[in-house]
Parts: sequence; structure tokens; C-alpha cells
Amino acid sequence: MRLHINIDHVCTLRNARGARYPDPVFAAQQCELAGADGITLHLREDRRHIRDADAEALRASITTVMNLELAATDEMLAMARRLRPDVITLVPERREERTTEGGLDVVKTEAAILPFVELGRELSMSVSLFIAPELAQIEAAARLGVAQVELHTGEYCERRGAARAEELERLRRGAEAAHARGLQVAAGHGLTRHNVGPVAAIAQVEELNIGHSVIADALFMGLGPAVHALREAIARGREG
Ligand code: PXP
Repeated sequence: MRLHINIDHVCTLRNARGARYPDPVFAAQQCELAGADGITLHLREDRRHIRDADAEALRASITTVMNLELAATDEMLAMARRLRPDVITLVPERREERTTEGGLDVVKTEAAILPFVELGRELSMSVSLFIAPELAQIEAAARLGVAQVELHTGEYCERRGAARAEELERLRRGAEAAHARGLQVAAGHGLTRHNVGPVAAIAQVEELNIGHSVIADALFMGLGPAVHALREAIARGREG
């Protein structure tokens, strides 16, 4: 199981004071040192956390995999061409949202996604689409020829009891359907070391993208130990 740590909220903390610290490059290095397989960052239109200079510094320093989350806009297409991440993850984005709410509507935004698929082919970057675990979205992603889908686990994390079990089943079926269509399967959003187990247990899920909870744990544990604790929770879930 690949574990990519999203370091956006290191910058949220920095920007809250307009300070020079904490440094996202240092955070990424600590994550890599603790065994993260990749670093994820979301360059939002309003630059509320990661800024262009952060993305550039991270591109120059990440030694594992750089997974750049972007909205499918012309501005972000130019950024992807300039930054050349290893993976481009396309996400929906609305300025007023607190975090990424809901998955990408691949069916409706196919025309905006296609230039990223072409750029990915041209520059050997892998393209992943962040979607809800719905068959229509999975089929549209497969038609577009992307390498991967990332299934949105936000609903699973928010629900409780039977409703959570139902959403987990939806994720399971989505992972199976995507895998059967030749797509790699990632998952993420809202995951913590307490709720990641059942998602890690889905056999087709090969990658997890986790941010907010790790940075929160890092306040009390330090970043390296927080990554280790998450890894252990994932391993426990995987082993059943
Ligand atoms: N995956 C994607 C596509 C995301 O947009 C985000 C949030 O930026 C995450 C994973 C990480 O979510 P969280 O910070 O809740 O762990």
C-alpha cells in the first residue's frame, strides 16, 4: 500500500500568521524520512495554503513521488506543464468550500480533463481523477484512459453506524469496478489512523492520500511518529 502524505496544512498554519514557518519542504522531507511513498499538495485557485513558490521548492526537493492536486482549469494546466509533477490528481474546486467537497464529475467535465490526459502522455506524468465511488464516473474515467482514480472517502468518514457500513460497501464495489476496468485505485479524504483500517482492507486500494489528521497528530507526536502511527494503522487494517 502506497502512503502519500498531503502537506497542505503545514502551509495553512504558516499562512495564518504570514510567517516563514513551518516550512513545507522540511515537512515533506520528514515525511519521506518516516517512509512516506509520496507527497501530495493541492495548489488551489485562491492559494489558501500551498503557494506557487512552495510548489516549485517542493518539486526541486521531493525525492519520492510528487502528487499535485489541481482543478481542471487552463491556469492549472500551465502550472502542471511548468512543475511537471509525477502525478496530476484532478479535483473539483469551489472557492467557498472549506475543503474539497464531493468528487469530480468526469462525465460532465470530460472536455476540461482531456488536455491534462494529453499533457500527461506528452510529459510522462500519470493522471488520477478524484471521484465518488459511482459506476458512471468510473466508466468515464476508464474511457478517458487515465491511469488511476482516487475514491472520495469523505462520506465514509462522516457517517456513523449502518450508514458508514453502507458507504464502505460502496467504496468496495467502486474499487472492484475500477480495478476490473484496468484503473489503479487510490482513496482519500478525511482519513485518520482511527478510521483508515476498513479502507486499507479493500484489496484493490493501492494508495492512500492523507493530510489533515497527520498534520494534527504531528502537533502532539511530531511528524515522523505521526506518519509511523498511520502506517501501523494501515498495516493492521490491511492484515485484517
Ligand atoms: N485526496 C484528495 C484528492 C484531496 O483533495 C484531499 C484534500 O486536499 C485529500 C486526499 C486529503 O484529505 P485530508 O486532508 O482530509 O486527509
